[in-house]
Formats: sequence, C-alpha cells, structure tokens
Amino acid sequence: MKAFKRVLQFSMPYWRRILLSVFASLGVGGMDGMFAYLVEPLLRKIFAENDMAIFAFLPLGIFGLFVVRGVCRYVNEYFIRTAGQLAIQDIRNQVYRNSLGLSMRFHNNNPTGTLMSRLLNDVLVMQEGVASVITGLFRDGFGALFLLGVIFWRNWQLALIAFLVIPMTVYPAQKIGGKIKKLSRHSLGKIGDISSVIQQTFSGIKVVKAFSLEQFETDRFAVLNREYYRFLRRSIKYEVMSSPVMEMITSLGIAAVIWFGGRQVLDGRMTAEAFFSFITAMILVYNPVKRLINSYNVIQRSLGAAERVFEVLDEKPEIVDSPDAVQLENVLGCVELRNVNFAYEGESVLRNISLQTRKGEVVAFVGPSGGGKTTLVSLIPRFYDATSGTVLIDGIDVRKLRLDSLMRQIALVDQETILFNDSVENNIRYGKPRATTDDIREAARAAFALDFIEDLPQGFQTVIGDRGARLSGGQRQRICIARAILKNAPILILDEATSALDTESEQMVQSALNNLMANRTTFVIAHRLSTILHADKIMVIDRGQIVESGTHHDLLRAGGIYRKLYDMQFA
Ligand SMILES: Nc1ncnc2c1ncn2[C@@H]1O[C@H](COP(=O)(O)OP(=O)(O)OP(=O)(O)O)[C@@H](O)[C@H]1O
Ligand SMILES: [Mg+2]
Repeated sequence: MKAFKRVLQFSMPYWRRILLSVFASLGVGGMDGMFAYLVEPLLRKIFAENDMAIFAFLPLGIFGLFVVRGVCRYVNEYFIRTAGQLAIQDIRNQVYRNSLGLSMRFHNNNPTGTLMSRLLNDVLVMQEGVASVITGLFRDGFGALFLLGVIFWRNWQLALIAFLVIPMTVYPAQKIGGKIKKLSRHSLGKIGDISSVIQQTFSGIKVVKAFSLEQFETDRFAVLNREYYRFLRRSIKYEVMSSPVMEMITSLGIAAVIWFGGRQVLDGRMTAEAFFSFITAMILVYNPVKRLINSYNVIQRSLGAAERVFEVLDEKPEIVDSPDAVQLENVLGCVELRNVNFAYEGESVLRNISLQTRKGEVVAFVGPSGGGKTTLVSLIPRFYDATSGTVLIDGIDVRKLRLDSLMRQIALVDQETILFNDSVENNIRYGKPRATTDDIREAARAAFALDFIEDLPQGFQTVIGDRGARLSGGQRQRICIARAILKNAPILILDEATSALDTESEQMVQSALNNLMANRTTFVIAHRLSTILHADKIMVIDRGQIVESGTHHDLLRAGGIYRKLYDMQFA
C-alpha cells in the first residue's frame, strides 16, 4: 500500500492530464451503459411496436455512439499514458540523481549493471502498473459502474444472483496477485544480474578474448537466463491462471442468470427485451471486470518493481554535508591528517597516520602495492571518511566543509584513467565546465597532449570510445592530466599519473607538472622513484602505516625500505 501511494504521489503533478482522462473515461463508460440500456427500448419499438423510423435511424445511431465513444477513448488513453510517462520520467530522474549522489562505498558494493537494470527495467515495469492502475480504475471502473447500473435497473433480484459470485473471486485474486508481486521482485533481480554480466563482459571484452572465455561466458549467461526463465515461467503461470479461474467462477453467475432470468421470461414476469438488455449489459460488463482483475495483477507486478526502485531512491548517501558545514574559501591548501585509521569493511587498511603539509609542498607516497597509498589520498576529497581520527584542510575538519566547496579545491589524476565516451574536448572540460576552447587547448598543451590530439581524425572533437578505448594508455593519461591542469585547484593529487608514459614524455609531462605544482599542495604517488626525487617529503607506506619519512637524501642515508627500492631501480 505504501509503495502504491508513493507511485501515485509521483503522478500528482500531472493531475490535469489525469482529470481530463477521467472525464473522458466517464464518456466511454457512459456510452457502454447507454448502449446496453437502449437494447430494451429499441427491441421493443422495432419488434413489438414495428417502429420503422427508429429502425432506419438505428445504424446511424450506433455509428454515432461509437464515434463519441472512440473520441472519448482516445482522449482518455492519450492523457493517461502521457501522464504515466511523465511521472515515470520524474522517478527515473530522481533515481539517477540519487544514485549519483551515493557514496563510493555504495557503488563499490552495487554493480553498475544492476543499477542500470533498476533504472531501465524496473522503472518500466513500474510504469506499466501506473498506467494500468489509472486507466483501469477509471475507464473500466466507470464502464463497469454504468453497466452495473443498467443491470440493477433492469432487474435487481437477478442482478443480485449474478453478483453473488463476486465475493468468491476475491480470495483467488488476492492469492494470485501476491504470488505475482513476489515473483516480479525476484525476476527483476535476475534481470539485474543479467545486465550486470552483460556490462561486465563487454567492458572486459579484451580479457574475455585474450583468455578465450567466450564459451565460458556464454554458458554462464545461459545459466542466468535459464534462472530468469524459471521465475518468469512461474509468473506466467499465475498470470494466465488468473483469467480462466475468474471466468469459471463468473460463469456460475451467468448460468444462474440464464436459469432464473429465463424462468422469469417464461413465466411472463419479465419481457424478453428487458432480459436481452440485461444480458447485453452483463456481457459488456464482463470485459471491464476482467480487465480490472487483470490490472490488479499488473499492479502487483509493478509494486514488486516499485519496491526495488524505491530501495535505491531511499538509499541515503553515507557522506553528506553536515548541517553546520562551511564554505571553504581562499584556501592555502595545508592538509593535515591526525591519527587517522581507516577500514573498508572491517579490515584495517590505514593505521594511525599523521602527517602535515604546508602550502605549496610536494609530498610523495611510495611503498609496496596494496600498502594503502590510494586509500590514504582518497580520504582528502572524502571519497571515504576516516574510521577514526581527522583529516583537516587549512585547520578545518573536512567533515565540517561543504562537499562541493571541498571538491573545488582538489584536482585528482586517478590511478585508473577514467574517461567518457565523448569528445576529447568534453573529456578535458570535465575539469572546469565553463572553460573556453582556448583554456582547453592550453591545458592540453601543458599536459603534452596537444600534438597527438591534433593528429586525431577530428582533433579535439574526436570521440574516444568507452573509457577512452580508442586512445593509447599514455594518451589517456595525458588527457586526465590536462583535465586536472584545467581545474587549477590548490590541492593536486597525482596517483600514478605518469605511469603509462615512456621516459621521454614522462620527463616532459613531469616538467609540466612541476610548473603546475608550484604554489600548490601536491600529493604524488609513484612507483617509479625518478618522478619523486625532488619532493619536499617522501613517505613510505607499508601495510597501512607510515614507516619512513623524510627527503630523498634523508631516506637514502637511513638505509631502510626506501633505500632498498632505490637501489633496485637505479642499480
Ligand atoms: N574499495 C575497496 N574495498 C575494500 N578494500 C579495498 C578497496 N580498495 C582497496 N582495498 C584494500 O585496501 C588495501 C590498500 O589498497 P590501496 O589501493 O590503497 O593500495 P595502494 O597502496 O594504492 O596499492 P597500489 O600501489 O597497488 O596502487 C588493499 O589491501 C586493498 O585490498
Ligand atoms: Mg594505488
């Protein structure tokens, strides 16, 4: 019921369309009622009273009735369906916005494909329900109501007999509806799994090919499809069961009516014309009632979907602005970590990290893979919050800062090059949405990317494929660097930013970055020590702790892990 109310709430802004549609459905229902009602006087006039004028007029009358009914029906469906689509569009936009706002932890734990499937399939199934509810309730509801009016008007005793069977349908309808709702949730979950697999395999197509996993993946996919089919089969079973069961039960009503009504006509207590009018209304009422019962099932299915959609909509981001959050302005860019501990899922990744940087300093992190370097720097833009301890910028706890103002202070070149299937220009523009073309060119030049960009078939307008698939690894990195350069933020984080470049371009990019680092607080993570020799501070991170720190010369003299790394690389 709660999900149902929420779905309706989303339709509220479109009440004008809905109202119009309701009026039109009154028209449709009214015409049906009128048609059934007129059977009696027409039959009487034509066959009993031989009124030929009415007979001549009849074909035209019937056509006219259906023209009016057709127009009403058009208005009814057009407005209700557009209202449904508009409501669904709002829901989809909200789910999308909310999902984007959710924290990294949510996205780590929820596959992209599943989220896609919720946005597409679940919302679609939900929308079928919305449309079905409103069309069903109004058009079929009114239709049934008018026809029932005729039925009771013609012969209320007979009507009571006919409808004695109605209570008998309630129990099976509810049972079947409940099953359908449950199965709908499950089968949409399976669709989510399927779309997750599709998303994964095609984004990893190279690995699939390199390891000849086509057959393996195809089989795995077939198994999922089979599981999906199993749920679908059960839900088909219940859906198609619904009609025959209802028909069997209602046939009891019809049988009773024919028996008792026929008796009344034979005994002369009812005219044959009235009986025909009654039967016409009953046959006509049968369709809307059947559709109402069917739409009950569609609603149940859509509620299963709605629950899944609302789950995402209700998911709260873990990291939000605190109520007293302040705007960060004119930052110096001094970053401090005080006794920071961090765990992703219970397992400790950073232990007791404390460090302090001054404005304009370059701090480098080195150390074995998996030591926690990327994790450490991801606490600064609050991708995650420290489990205990504090991260401060210019002496202010990052949790007390408005998130958007915090993000404006930080430019990040991530270890993974993250690019979108868009033009080179737009990919760089992510750094600063209002940048001019000249700014973008300048940023590309500073990142030593201008030459190769101009050699691309459409230059800056070249679309680079999913995740930049049409570029080389080093080219992708340089675009990411250009993006960070364009952002021109006081704090710069470079996580293996030049790892994919050859020595020559690395040196060139490095000198560009050196220019960029001036007057900025920079965190550099690098496995190649050549890029960090001149850092103001080098920290060696091992198993979540800072085990050594100092300048290059200090660390060489100390003869610890850094010395070992250095000797290995420069032997
Ligand atoms: N999203 C995550 N969820 C759970 N655990 C994670 C996550 N990201 C990293 N880890 C774990 O945290 C530890 C530190 O990872 P991190 O990426 O910080 O290492 P790193 O020092 O950057 O390594 P590398 O030099 O290979 O990039 C690893 O043991 C890793 O398994
Ligand atoms: Mg890393």
